[in-house]
Amino acid sequence: MTRTDGDSWDLASSVGATATMVAGQRALAHREQLIDDPYAEPLVRAVGLDFFTKALDGEIDFGDVNPAFTPRRAAEGMTVRTRWFDQLFLDAAAAGVRQAVILAAGLDARAYRLPWPDGTVVFEVDQPEVIEFKSTTLADLGAAPTATRRTVAVDLRDDWMQALRDNGFDPAAPTAWIAEGLLIYLPPEAQDRLFDNITALSAPGSFVAAEQVGDLSSAFDDERMQAMRERMKALGSNIEIADLIYQGDRNHVTDYLTGLGWDVTARSVEEAHTDNGFQYPDDELSRAWTQLKYVRAVLNRKA
Ligand SMILES: C[S@@+](CC[C@H](N)C(=O)[O-])C[C@H]1O[C@@H](n2cnc3c(N)ncnc32)[C@H](O)[C@@H]1O
Repeated sequence: MTRTDGDSWDLASSVGATATMVAGQRALAHREQLIDDPYAEPLVRAVGLDFFTKALDGEIDFGDVNPAFTPRRAAEGMTVRTRWFDQLFLDAAAAGVRQAVILAAGLDARAYRLPWPDGTVVFEVDQPEVIEFKSTTLADLGAAPTATRRTVAVDLRDDWMQALRDNGFDPAAPTAWIAEGLLIYLPPEAQDRLFDNITALSAPGSFVAAEQVGDLSSAFDDERMQAMRERMKALGSNIEIADLIYQGDRNHVTDYLTGLGWDVTARSVEEAHTDNGFQYPDDELSRAWTQLKYVRAVLNRKA
């Protein structure tokens, strides 16, 4: 574990580089016309990490990392995830919610690409260097937000609730929250605190979506997974995810949210693939992630 309390990063290092990695997958999904995110590729290129730029240029053969991990497979997996979180915001908007919070926003461009109803305010929370880079790069690209976008540059281990309020967040209005690709980078108790805080700030009618990861040791400690990561490193990747995540028992998101009074629904990663017309692959890498669930919930009344 190389994480420390209060560690920080930009989009080329540590946890920040994982945001670049998933945006790279979104770029592939966009190319396959499975999602509409025209900003993912220019953002990844602007970060300038050699491994991802080369992957987008076709100079790295995914098959060298893992024969099962084709660009199409990467695109489909990220499409399932992207659509899940897009849909949460679309459903919340249809229900009249006009306040959205993207926690750990990374290179998420939803504030620029979703059809937000008039009057919607979208808050993006992430570390300062991550926020600054995305804002500047998208402005340089001439992109304009499709809602009122407010950035909150704060560490989610610090008092982000106050930072959100200081930026005009209204706890009396219902909110749509997403925590996409975040939880594994938080210690288990910080994950619980995150949902406690979300609930404290959520008026009735609020929505939330997140992933529930299962036993991470099978996903990261497995020898074959380690060998795959070594091959990625040999090809120039500087990401060592096993060092960035917090392993150990953590509460199931579904149970925890239910306990806080949310009405929860979840789809397994396999079901979510089927829902999108894809077949969940049957290979070593994919089998390590079968415990993953996509979770969403509505707070009808406070517990
Ligand atoms: C895998 S990326 C996901 C980014 C984005 N949600 C997406 O799906 O494209 C993880 C993100 O979590 C952010 N993050 C992780 N821990 C954080 C913390 N303690 N405070 C603020 N941001 C954090 C990182 O900066 C990074 O942007």
